[in-house]
Amino acid sequence: MLERYTRILVTGGAGFIGRHLVAALLELGKQVVILDQLAPEPEPALPGASWVRADIRDAAKVAELANAAELIFHLAANANGSRSVVDPRFDFETNAVGTFNVLEAAKAGEVKKLVYVSSASVYGRPERSPTDEEHPTRPFVPYGASKLSGELCCRAFFAAYDLPVVIARPFCVYGPGENPELALVEVSRYLRWQLNRRPIQVVGDLDCKTRDFVHVSDVVQGLLLADRAPAGEVFNLGSGQETSMRELIEVIELVTGRRASIQEIKEISEDTYRLVADITKIKALGYLPKVSLEEGVRQLTEELGEHPELPAGETIFRKGQRAERAG
Ligand SMILES: NC(=O)c1ccc[n+]([C@@H]2O[C@H](COP(=O)([O-])OP(=O)(O)OC[C@H]3O[C@@H](n4cnc5c(N)ncnc54)[C@H](O)[C@@H]3O)[C@@H](O)[C@H]2O)c1
Repeated sequence: MLERYTRILVTGGAGFIGRHLVAALLELGKQVVILDQLAPEPEPALPGASWVRADIRDAAKVAELANAAELIFHLAANANGSRSVVDPRFDFETNAVGTFNVLEAAKAGEVKKLVYVSSASVYGRPERSPTDEEHPTRPFVPYGASKLSGELCCRAFFAAYDLPVVIARPFCVYGPGENPELALVEVSRYLRWQLNRRPIQVVGDLDCKTRDFVHVSDVVQGLLLADRAPAGEVFNLGSGQETSMRELIEVIELVTGRRASIQEIKEISEDTYRLVADITKIKALGYLPKVSLEEGVRQLTEELGEHPELPAGETIFRKGQRAERAG
């Protein structure tokens, strides 16, 4: 796998998905450079990778690092939709301009493939479920718009300069190592409340709101396979399984062995829609999701322990709107 490459740059490599990806690349024996705004850790959890502290908005620094890379995974982003509503300029500059910087640097360098990690948020509220890659893109929060802007730049650089770019659209990623202050995916949020014996706060309708929860190890599997894809292609990256919020809570109850107390926040209806990946396209590259939701929740329960840190981030769709009550 990835035999063609030795030098690999991972932007956002210190983040939740990035760390898992870097660990997998190191296991494959690759030379990995991490570009992240976070300071390198004194005892790096990812020994073998070189970690450069830099801001993706700094075009000169990005160019310096991207120059030598043969393969680039671009993950650095504001990954929090609520923050994008509160501060859309910050979100756009990080996600859209940051992606432009990576593309411009890759164009000038020796890159053989660039994998842009976009997001299922580009679809907005899907009209059909499961949602395939041809579905219209109509994001409804600034985050979706900034990720889509990144995609459009990728497509334009492919068309104008033959830059070999592949776009991946992960759905709702969960697993070990998420930052509870930023992460908005329901799996670890609900589990953290349940483990602390707090009510699980459900934004939207328990039964009508569904998501495609995909384990981070399967996302990494998909990102590594993206190299096999022809340049210019876009791929959904999910489990292909539809799970309602009630079904997720039932899995959490089963794994933790106790009934959950549920606090519904029905007045916020923006979050009630079905979001499920059609994964036919990436399956043709050899992708096969391996971790079931129950198995993933079981692993995460062990990792989090009895009293994990509570989720802090709020779910915000409009300025001034606050979804969460005191937990
Ligand atoms: N987690 C999900 O469910 C999910 C779903 C779809 C898409 N994504 C995308 O996957 C990618 C990784 O997400 P994640 O969940 O690991 O988020 P994360 O916040 O854990 O990781 C993002 C990383 O990017 C770094 N970063 C942010 N701004 C930066 C900047 N200006 N300069 C340099 N580094 C910067 C952060 O320090 C962090 O380490 C993002 O592009 C996100 O949009 C995530």
